[in-house]
Amino acid sequence: MRKEPKRYLVTAALPYANGPVHIGHLAGCYLPADIYVRFLKAQGKDVIFICGSDEHGVPITLKAKNEGITPQQVVDKYDGIMKNAFKDFGIDFTYYGRTSSKTHHDTAQEFFKNLYDKGIFKEEITQQYYDVEASQFLADRYITGTCPRCGNPGAYGDQCEKCGTALSPTDLINPKSALSGNVPVLKETKNWFLPMGEIQQTEQFQNYIKRFSQWKSNIKGQCNSWLTEGLQSRAMTRDLDWGVPVPIEGPEASGKVLYVWFDAPIGYISATKEYFEINSNPIAIGSQIPNPKWETYWQDQDTALIHFIGKDNIVFHAIIFPMMLMAHGDFILPTNVPANEFLNLEGDKISTSRNWAVWLHEYLTDFPDKQDELRYVLTSIAPETKDSEFTWKDFQTRVNSELVSIFGNFVNRVLVLCEKYYAGLVPEINIKLKDEKLIKARQTCMDHVAESLQQMQLNLEAIKLRDAQAEFINVARAGNKYLADTEPWKLIKTDAESVKQILIDALQICAKLAIAAEPFLPHTSAKLKLMLNAKDLDWKGLFNETLIGSNQQLNKSEILYKQVEDEDIQKQLERLERIKKANHLEPKPNETLHEVKADISYEDFDKLDLRVGKILEAIKVPKADKLLKLTVDLGFEKRTILSGIAEYYKPEELVGKLVTVVANLAPRKIRGIESQGMLLMAGNDFGKLLSVGPEADIELGSIVK
Ligand code: MF3
Ligand code: ZN
Repeated sequence: MRKEPKRYLVTAALPYANGPVHIGHLAGCYLPADIYVRFLKAQGKDVIFICGSDEHGVPITLKAKNEGITPQQVVDKYDGIMKNAFKDFGIDFTYYGRTSSKTHHDTAQEFFKNLYDKGIFKEEITQQYYDVEASQFLADRYITGTCPRCGNPGAYGDQCEKCGTALSPTDLINPKSALSGNVPVLKETKNWFLPMGEIQQTEQFQNYIKRFSQWKSNIKGQCNSWLTEGLQSRAMTRDLDWGVPVPIEGPEASGKVLYVWFDAPIGYISATKEYFEINSNPIAIGSQIPNPKWETYWQDQDTALIHFIGKDNIVFHAIIFPMMLMAHGDFILPTNVPANEFLNLEGDKISTSRNWAVWLHEYLTDFPDKQDELRYVLTSIAPETKDSEFTWKDFQTRVNSELVSIFGNFVNRVLVLCEKYYAGLVPEINIKLKDEKLIKARQTCMDHVAESLQQMQLNLEAIKLRDAQAEFINVARAGNKYLADTEPWKLIKTDAESVKQILIDALQICAKLAIAAEPFLPHTSAKLKLMLNAKDLDWKGLFNETLIGSNQQLNKSEILYKQVEDEDIQKQLERLERIKKANHLEPKPNETLHEVKADISYEDFDKLDLRVGKILEAIKVPKADKLLKLTVDLGFEKRTILSGIAEYYKPEELVGKLVTVVANLAPRKIRGIESQGMLLMAGNDFGKLLSVGPEADIELGSIVK
């Protein structure tokens, strides 16, 4: 049996401060962490909830480079934006720090120094790509080249985003520096490595991994496969100029910073420190010691340390950071690492660079008072065990048929009837129910309510938030059924005394819903407590019989949720449609890129007659969405060519373009028009013309070989 911890330290992955927050972030870790923390707090547990901006690492420097500003300007901008977005959605961090703070730099350096002085690190000299012109070593992300696996010419030094293969910079064919475009050279450099393979063998680590058996299977699976493969040493320092400087005296560490995955998780520690520094008299909820200190949360074995993260962060939180903590020796190790899988959007991976996302700040502009609605839907579809998908249609359905029709409708019916019959003053009961049918309906309802609340509580404890929220809705469902079975609006004419009992029962259910809503739907919970004139309702009352007593005056009721209309959804879908067009590609990953067709002989190739042509005219083909009719000048003659590019190009964009034409493709009739050739296209779904650049000073009709 696991012992009940004395306190909880819950963290949510520090997001990179290089862009705004989208629904994938929210669903992946911030919302589940917030629900869990609210649940712990509601029960009076001692808990702090730590997060902050991850302000180092290559993603930040790349963003700075793209926007032509400094990395510091990037992080200053996004730190504020992210913080506000979390606040808007009720993500209630105890403290939100940032890794550019002095406390963090000091803490991370001390940590590194501690390990360095103990001789934990192995010094290694390796060959790294170096950009001579920019006179700097290149981070993996700064090197692009051709993927050896799928031939994607835009693969990065750490990964090919087309085929998903993890790469090393030296795997790339034709590597190029993203800084100057030059071919980088290999140069020797010394770095400090964490010998993970050795640490893996230690008894302490072997003891630690026994905890995995209690963890979710997706995390266990990933960790076990890393461990079975055997861990490689990993450099904890990097040749970069943005980050926490390596705290080693002398020239050998100059120009080097701590690896971002070394410094960022230490951010959890430094943010906790900062919180206790700033709040000289911190009132940690229900803290059992008079003056809690940061050390209490990080060093006392009775603390449960829980890291909420997305699946791409698993190895860092479940293996590398614990190894660091172990090597240091003063810290507790994670009790659980609840990692979520990914949330997709309308059939495709969420992608910041392709703007394929629902941004929280944009959502709020379109749905200014629907924070809880998004929380609700994201929890209903939370990718807890496998990837899941957000679609606007599903968002609308869940809000309208669950929040509006079940929860909102139940509360509204009860409160409106109480206003109508008793002017909002909770009546006294003189006579208990007598009618058998009513008694039975009441019992069924009470049983269901109690059972669902019980299940909800168990699921919350087990961090099965999706199931927990479903049980919450089941409580409202049971309430609705009670009303439907007893029809108080009819019964009032014949048996007003029984109606009192029924509505008082229903009010108790409303009160339970107000309490239980707090972790999932905090804005609604507060609103409902106000309507019930019962601000002090708290979790301990969840299983009480009477929460709203006779003669209590209720406040004026309001509708809890409004419908999401078709046009609201339409607007969102149109926005995504525009993005898809702007990207010139369908959001379908092309899975067959690495499958090359069977070899052809040179003779086969030579049969092709490829020519340079110029588009003179482009017109839409009536009633064919995709087709354009082009007139292409080959110099020696003009051709009519039909091409399926209307989705990607406006006709006027095409006029004057030089393109490559298959000049000897047998003519075909399409929609009654003879097409006399074909244009060469490329791209994910062949949406991009393979055009000869406008700078090409070339005679029309030239042969392409
Ligand atoms: N910034 C990382 C990401 O967005 C997460 C860092 S979590 C921390 O993937 F533990 F390192 F802080
Ligand atoms: Zn690839």
